[in-house]
Amino acid sequence: MNILDKFHNWRRKKRWDKQYKKGLWNNLKSEKEAKRYYQIIDYLKTYGVENPAILDIGCGDGVLNQRMQDVAFSSFLGVDFSEVSIQQAKAKNFPKAEFIAADAHTFTPTNSFDVIVFNEAFYYIHDSEKENVLNRILAKLNPNGVIITSIYREGTGCWEFFKENPKLKELDFTTVTTDEALQYWKIGAYKKV
Ligand SMILES: C[S@@+](CC[C@H](N)C(=O)[O-])C[C@H]1O[C@@H](n2cnc3c(N)ncnc32)[C@H](O)[C@@H]1O
Repeated sequence: MNILDKFHNWRRKKRWDKQYKKGLWNNLKSEKEAKRYYQIIDYLKTYGVENPAILDIGCGDGVLNQRMQDVAFSSFLGVDFSEVSIQQAKAKNFPKAEFIAADAHTFTPTNSFDVIVFNEAFYYIHDSEKENVLNRILAKLNPNGVIITSIYREGTGCWEFFKENPKLKELDFTTVTTDEALQYWKIGAYKKV
């Protein structure tokens, strides 16, 4: 990213902080949204190893973790560049979970993971950095690992980025719909080639 893109990214982070402080993303906890979290969990159970180590990039205030009460996992690391959302996630004291504030553009995990999730987050990665971010997380995905992505509606080329990426093999792909024609999510599961 050039200096201007970095500035815009910083401004976006501040905007997310304000929005989480005001509770503007509480709608993600609604029953309408629940279907997409359950689809992610379904892929996680179907394609993930037993008791996976999970990384959730752009985790917000931990809604996926909240929806995973009945799922067995060995560890859960949630990462988000909004410090406010991370504080809110930490305050929930989810078992076996850790949350850290970091920018996905530069975040390099220290451990490796069985499942890496981009749940409504990949479109915020600058186009010039998408491939770098993917490379960095693929380096930390265990050999039997799975990447799960959820993209709202058409998501400005994001679901195609995964679907058509030669470094990935698609395991599954579906569209989760709601009773509103314009509210749907494209959710995919991928492994490394
Ligand atoms: C629509 S919310 C989704 C939150 C969560 N994944 C969920 O579905 O419940 C998008 C999240 O991506 C985070 N985000 C946006 N750009 C980011 C970046 N560059 N690095 C890390 N997180 C980012 C935002 O702070 C926000 O929490």
